[in-house]
Amino acid sequence: MNLREQLLQLATQIETEIPQLQSREDVEAFRIRHLVKKGTLQALVEQLRTVPKEDKPEVGKLLNALRDLVQSSYDSAFASFAQGASVDRIDVSLPARDEKTGSIHPITQTMDRLIAIFSSMGFEVAEGPDVEDDAHNFERLNFASDHPARDMQDTFFVEHADRSDVLLRTHTSSVQVRVMESMKPPIRCIMPGRVYRNEAVSARSLAEFHQIEGLYIDKGVSMADLKGTIMAFARKFYDEHAEFRFRTSYFPFTEPSCEIDMSCFLCKGEGCRICKHSGWLEICGAGMVHPNVLRANGIDPEEYSGFAFGFGVERVVLMLTGIDDIRHLYDNDFRVLSQFTAQ
Ligand code: DAH
Repeated sequence: MNLREQLLQLATQIETEIPQLQSREDVEAFRIRHLVKKGTLQALVEQLRTVPKEDKPEVGKLLNALRDLVQSSYDSAFASFAQGASVDRIDVSLPARDEKTGSIHPITQTMDRLIAIFSSMGFEVAEGPDVEDDAHNFERLNFASDHPARDMQDTFFVEHADRSDVLLRTHTSSVQVRVMESMKPPIRCIMPGRVYRNEAVSARSLAEFHQIEGLYIDKGVSMADLKGTIMAFARKFYDEHAEFRFRTSYFPFTEPSCEIDMSCFLCKGEGCRICKHSGWLEICGAGMVHPNVLRANGIDPEEYSGFAFGFGVERVVLMLTGIDDIRHLYDNDFRVLSQFTAQ
């Protein structure tokens, strides 16, 4: 068979193959059969050398026409399968794919609930920077200059070209100072935010976590107001029948200082896993704002008094859920997070 006859035969073959291209795979096989270097077209091009000189123009033309046919058939088959063919293959009887929707992280959900309760009690939300200086995080909160919390062990210091007092705030109490700088009493604020401590990460502690701080300053504010506020909050948030106890404690920025415990909302004081069999759950640290703090922030302690409190949000979530390892909250493990799908 001479080259001319072979070309005509290939043309016929192509015409019958085209209607049979039914899928992407068919189209790809067609391309490999005809259009690649070792394909049928190239084999014929290589034979062109053997054609007598006088026949070359005619055979060459035929060859070009055939190549155009193959290429354009391939192009249009490829385009139609690229857009539409996969649609033909959808099995409509298959069950729908379960689309997962995201939800608000348990920490954020809890912060939102805490904020909602304090807002309903008249507290405004205030925020401050995560990167602070010594004055806001320590000095103006009455931390003595040799207080161990300033030690490198607890505080992440930030390298700064010409200051050595820049740090990541170790508590949201720093925002108390910011608030006193920018507002005049009466002040009634809560201050949620992220805090940082140079601590080993374990089941009980993280180096980065969240706190909510509260501050109330006005004329004649007393310990009774602190008790009333925390008890009303805890009865709304945890358990309307909760009992309380106030233990004396120490914080540099409050005097007197206390830690407030609530009867366990699960066992009602009987003792269980959540309260580590003590019957009590610690809810926050608190106290009356130290006169030195008021003074350092431009408020006259003869005229005004106030209370402050602060607690860790991760611990609240652990307490409410019974999760026993704080790291689960940050593992991004879908099995954990999907248990908190409330919006
Ligand atoms: N800043 C304290 C801490 O990080 C928590 C705290 C305790 C805040 C007592 C307060 C307070 O405002 O009165 O452990």
